[in-house]
Amino acid sequence: MTLTGPGVEKFPTLFSSYKLKNLNISNRCIVSPMTRTSATEDGLVTNQIADYYARYARSGWGLIITEGTYIDFRYSQGYTYQPGIADERQQESWRKVVEASHAAGTPIFMQIFHCGAINQGNYWVEGSIAPSVVKPKGEQIPRYRGAAGGFQTPREITNEEIETVVESFGEAAKRADEVGFDGIEVHGANGYLPDQFLTKYTNQREDDYGGPIENRIKFHCKIMNAVRSAVPNKPVGVRISQTKVNDFEYNWPGGISDAEVIFSKLAETGIDFIDCSAHLGVTPIFDTKNSLSGLAKKYSGLTVISNGKLQDPIVAEKALIESEGDFVAIGKGALADFEWPLKIAAENDPFPFDPGMITPYATLDCNKDFWTKNPDGVSSEIVEARDAGERA
Ligand SMILES: Cc1cc2nc3c(=O)[nH]c(=O)nc-3n(C[C@H](O)[C@H](O)[C@H](O)COP(=O)(O)O)c2cc1C
Repeated sequence: MTLTGPGVEKFPTLFSSYKLKNLNISNRCIVSPMTRTSATEDGLVTNQIADYYARYARSGWGLIITEGTYIDFRYSQGYTYQPGIADERQQESWRKVVEASHAAGTPIFMQIFHCGAINQGNYWVEGSIAPSVVKPKGEQIPRYRGAAGGFQTPREITNEEIETVVESFGEAAKRADEVGFDGIEVHGANGYLPDQFLTKYTNQREDDYGGPIENRIKFHCKIMNAVRSAVPNKPVGVRISQTKVNDFEYNWPGGISDAEVIFSKLAETGIDFIDCSAHLGVTPIFDTKNSLSGLAKKYSGLTVISNGKLQDPIVAEKALIESEGDFVAIGKGALADFEWPLKIAAENDPFPFDPGMITPYATLDCNKDFWTKNPDGVSSEIVEARDAGERA
């Protein structure tokens, strides 16, 4: 959708088009992947979820990236009511989302996911796997229906399982491609399985996957090779972060030299983009002038999505102009207001994020309840979305 309005003149980079591989994307505004734990117990996408994504698709976003979607019926699911793409039935349930998005002219990528040790709700199996037997820091996450208390201690993934998980990422990517998604993002960030390999304290392995950073990034690279060969003709990429859902303090121990190895090794796999999520947003890191996403651009040479606190369009435009990224992904700002791009284009203020929107749960029903309880300022679009939710 091509947007017009005074905001488009004011933020010309944010509203400019971009060609990613074979895909024309009408502007640089992306709906960041957001887990909503609103699927059926066995991981099927409901009409409510389709309506939710359709609302974004009709609101001027250049691209939507789905919530993290699990890849197999083994250890990949981490949250109760999380959607999956582990078989044809789950794959088929996504078709209505893709069709609704395409009907509105908006491309949509699927984010594929393996929780590793951060498992607080798996419908299919008991237990969890991780690079090493390390109990995750912190407590289960209440907004994704975690039980009170800590995570279970995982068992060490076997070498055979590493191969199987890599294959499953490839197969899941293929299913997403077949059902019509326009691209694939592997969730390589935020403390889930691939990031557990990258992170020094959760990877205590003494084989080729453990030790120096060149080894700790190998699991990501194997996955990206598999996904690249499964989906040769559409954009594929990976999300990377330093911090984790259960650890906001972690920084790459090798600083800038880790960044150089991580981003250059990922680029060697032939992928198209890297999505960098940073809680500090585009604040410079490692005593450089760049943020995480700026370093990703510098060392990978790939298309980069910048994410974290970019809902202010002045900050977003500046980040793009200064080469901190080619796209901005908006998380909480998008959750607060489906119409963020339309409103920025019209120079209207989007609704601000309120933690009540994901409290007690980050589900679509909870979001709906928030707006029901806070009717002031509810737009007709949101009322419609709420009503659509009630139909599901
Ligand atoms: C409710 C909620 C669910 C999220 N789920 C995911 C997810 O499934 N995958 C992911 O990569 N990031 C997830 N995130 C992180 C966001 O994509 C984004 O990185 C984060 O909110 C920071 O961006 P922001 O400052 O624009 O909110 C989630 C965030 C929120 C608030």
